[in-house]
Amino acid sequence: MAQDLSKSSSTQTSSPAHVAIIMDGNGRWAQLRGQPRLMGHRAGAKRIREIVQTCPNVGVKYLTIFAFSTENWKRTQSEVSGLMTLFRQYIKREARNLAKEGVRVRFIGDRVRLDDKLVKLMDELEQLTETNDRVHLTIALNYGSRDEVARATKRLAHDVAIGKLLVADIGEETLPKYLDTCVLPDPDLVVRTSGEARISNFLLWQSAYSEYEFVDTLWPDFSAEIFENIVDRFKSRDRRFGGIKV
Ligand code: FPP
Repeated sequence: MAQDLSKSSSTQTSSPAHVAIIMDGNGRWAQLRGQPRLMGHRAGAKRIREIVQTCPNVGVKYLTIFAFSTENWKRTQSEVSGLMTLFRQYIKREARNLAKEGVRVRFIGDRVRLDDKLVKLMDELEQLTETNDRVHLTIALNYGSRDEVARATKRLAHDVAIGKLLVADIGEETLPKYLDTCVLPDPDLVVRTSGEARISNFLLWQSAYSEYEFVDTLWPDFSAEIFENIVDRFKSRDRRFGGIKV
């Protein structure tokens, strides 16, 4: 296989084209104010617009945000249903604005367990914004990386079973074509807010060579300024992709 020389060894001078964010800390933000957890999620939802709007100014073309994981169903029924209502409200409230600002919205994750009304809104927002190209916003909803790989493997195995794919032709470039993220570049930078330093089943395959930033700020306090600083710090990182500095 030809070596991808663009990914051998480089000191970053450019912005991360794709930033993925684990928006953590909504619950703690609300608790600190003596409010129910859902108020933290509401405040968190409001932060998204400013960060999306900042992307073109700082050279970020792709933004992926973790809104609900396959594990989040374990939360109380009232928190889960509150979040699902919030997702519907967010799409209804933001659709026109996102479309107008040139944002292309995609959703990743398994839609099967999601409510029909929510899935319809997700489909409509994807269609409404499908010709946009200024910023690509991907919202991970009922997303888990292991679940994504399992679903991808099923589809891959099906293609082998019907003779569309030969076992001998399977290489490391094959599986990504079956992942929910198949049309997206891998994230250059993964950010997690709230001081927790773990990945929580987010983009495991895709982040093999991502840089990581763990920031203490709780997501509802995250700002354009913090985002700009993170992007700036990325530019001085030395990315070697397993190679050596030349
Ligand atoms: C993690 O914080 C956050 C979530 C599980 C939900 C993320 C949702 C939003 C930011 C708002 C809605 C999103 C969209 C796309 C409209 P946590 O609740 O685990 O916080 P904690 O660790 O402090 O309890």
